[in-house]
Amino acid sequence: MAIKYDERNRTLTLHTAKTTYQMLIDAFGKVYHLYYGRRIDDVSLASQYVLTDCGFSPNSFENRSHRDVSPDILPQEYAATFSGDYRVSALDLITSEGIMGADLRYLRHEIREGKYALPGLPAAFAGEEKVQTLSLTLHDAATGLEVELLYGVFEASDMLTRAAVFRNAGDSQITLKRALSLCLDIPFGTWELLHFHGRHCMERTAERVPLMHGIQTVSSSRGASSHHHNPFVVLLEEGANEVQGTCLGIMPVYSGNHRTDVEVDQAGSLRVVSGINHEAFSWQLLPGETFFAPEVILCYTGDGLESLSHHYHDFLEQHVIRSLWRDRKRPLILNSWEGMNFDFDTAKVIAFAEEAAQLGIELVVLDDGWFGIRNDDNTGLGDWYANESKLPGGLGPISDAIHGLGMQFGLWFEPEMVNEDSELYRAHPQWALTVPGRPPTMSRNQLALDMGRKDVVDHLYRVMADLIQENHIDYIKWDLNRNLGDLYSHALSPHRQGETAHRHMLGVYDLMERLTRDFPEVLFEGCAGGGGRFDAGMLYYMPQIWCSDDTDAIERLSIQQGTSVGYPLSTVGAHLSACPNQQTGRNTSYFTRAAVAMHGTFGYELDPSHFTEAEKQEIREEIAWYHQLYPLLHEGRLHRLTSLEMREDFTAWEVARRDGSEALVTFVVTRTRANDHGYHVRLRGLAPKARYRIAQAEFEGGRLPREDYLGRQELDALIFTGESLMYAGFTLPPLKGDYPAAQLLFERIP
Ligand code: GLA
Repeated sequence: MAIKYDERNRTLTLHTAKTTYQMLIDAFGKVYHLYYGRRIDDVSLASQYVLTDCGFSPNSFENRSHRDVSPDILPQEYAATFSGDYRVSALDLITSEGIMGADLRYLRHEIREGKYALPGLPAAFAGEEKVQTLSLTLHDAATGLEVELLYGVFEASDMLTRAAVFRNAGDSQITLKRALSLCLDIPFGTWELLHFHGRHCMERTAERVPLMHGIQTVSSSRGASSHHHNPFVVLLEEGANEVQGTCLGIMPVYSGNHRTDVEVDQAGSLRVVSGINHEAFSWQLLPGETFFAPEVILCYTGDGLESLSHHYHDFLEQHVIRSLWRDRKRPLILNSWEGMNFDFDTAKVIAFAEEAAQLGIELVVLDDGWFGIRNDDNTGLGDWYANESKLPGGLGPISDAIHGLGMQFGLWFEPEMVNEDSELYRAHPQWALTVPGRPPTMSRNQLALDMGRKDVVDHLYRVMADLIQENHIDYIKWDLNRNLGDLYSHALSPHRQGETAHRHMLGVYDLMERLTRDFPEVLFEGCAGGGGRFDAGMLYYMPQIWCSDDTDAIERLSIQQGTSVGYPLSTVGAHLSACPNQQTGRNTSYFTRAAVAMHGTFGYELDPSHFTEAEKQEIREEIAWYHQLYPLLHEGRLHRLTSLEMREDFTAWEVARRDGSEALVTFVVTRTRANDHGYHVRLRGLAPKARYRIAQAEFEGGRLPREDYLGRQELDALIFTGESLMYAGFTLPPLKGDYPAAQLLFERIP
């Protein structure tokens, strides 16, 4: 039994394979949080908490003569404003009578088999695993609000999910001003915060900071999860690193305005609250109505950051990603964007595809520019029909030609957006989010459609479904190239405008749900100006997401490394592009570019007609190497061998088979130096007593180091054991040139 109710102690306990989570219901119905951490069986953990009378920390009415019992000090399971707890809260409201806040007390609980679902929202599913749900309902007598806290207990996966449902069981209208999914008190320990910040072309840069007394916030108010603050944070106990120490991950399954606040209070205790960002948010709840807050995926491990990453990787792949493509070999893509931009016609696209076929590309994507009057990024969004002046006869001839070459055909869309200069906007100006009387903010000269409107979603569904059917589309790149600026829906009444951003997100999810359900064979790749919406919510609909518009191999090291903390390699859209790189002007070799891009979905983003014959040969060899490595890269586990903050002169990634039989180690040197002593790493995930050799070594320009080791041994003659590679380590001789790379395939000797 993963969930236990102990009637005598009034504790509710959740167990996963290696963790325990416990709550206590007191005599007055207050629900206290007792513990989330390493597994502890069959005991109440209430005795950890000493009661102290702390000045200016109030008592609940029932405890007015027990000044040492304060909701402001004791860990709460779910904290609301105006409840005697001044720490950051998860719930804030006002009723039509002007009553604010809530005093939440236990109402009932229920233990159910299976995993709860959240209507209209992405959420983890049980799949093959035996999962239990705890439903714990609290209520506030003064307002009639019921808050149902949901806990999904994935015992074997060793993960928990949480969500919250708000029901107006009273007679007044309730306006939710803050309705978060998670409140988690962590009463003891010294913690640090790891978060993933960035900007366009610099997504998910890992930053680890100490916590101050006060509140630290990771959030987005951009209408998308954003390039700037990914909806994922990790709390690490002081001293924790990749391979040891306590880590606690908090990953909202939401692609819109999210927020996670971490507070260190007067007693040094931590509180984390997480869910929909309450900035510019409110939700009207009429009597009888219900509001569902999105899910948050929690992971606790005592075994370091790498273990936390592996937990999230497996969980997202097994319990969040639904696409059939999760288990299929992903096609090797050539995308037209960096190679052709807006400058193409039917003949050029077909010539592009013919070149691609010769290289061994499996799917050609026609990116932006194929529709409406789209010849640059100022016009045409919304008009999802072929640009006849570029593509006479529409998409059919291109699709036929690409399929005729034995490849698949993919198409770019940006469904949630519209240009003023479009048929769609001229016909339906009210379909865009614009504030009456105020000129809209512009971004890439486009406006956001009001996806909260059913007529908008229905229209987009029809147009996209027709195109998929008529043109035999195998893949869709689903882009989003601006953030929401003007939160005003022409379809909502004035007092509901605070609902606009979340309704917008629900409409986006609805459109994705309908298209992915009706076209399960289509491979959908998410995108938002690169990785501006890379989150667990999107992965529920799309198994891969274009990781960044920055395709420079060296910049990609930090972007993909930061991304890898929460998200598996199979989700990371990564392509090899031309040099000098379009974003940075940097030159790197094909080998280095391929080595980095194959730690993702791998593909190309350039014009193959520019290749010389020698380059074509190199690309073919690279592709063969990639196919050879594919099973290892997609079934293996990633180990980040160098620091997350990239303090070394090189970055090393290892992907090892789960049984330790094989491991690929990729080195990319970010700073070559004179008199270098080589690049030392300690491998992980090998069988300690097994013997290993280097089965294949691929170097820049094919140069194998010769007799570089003490004892004058050659690299391919070296024999190791798992423990020698993991505890003593392996040193790669220094490489020369600009950003050189090497890939070594270690193989267990039978
Ligand atoms: C975004 C995407 C790019 C490309 C362009 C097209 O920036 O991230 O890959 O599709 O839009 O306009």
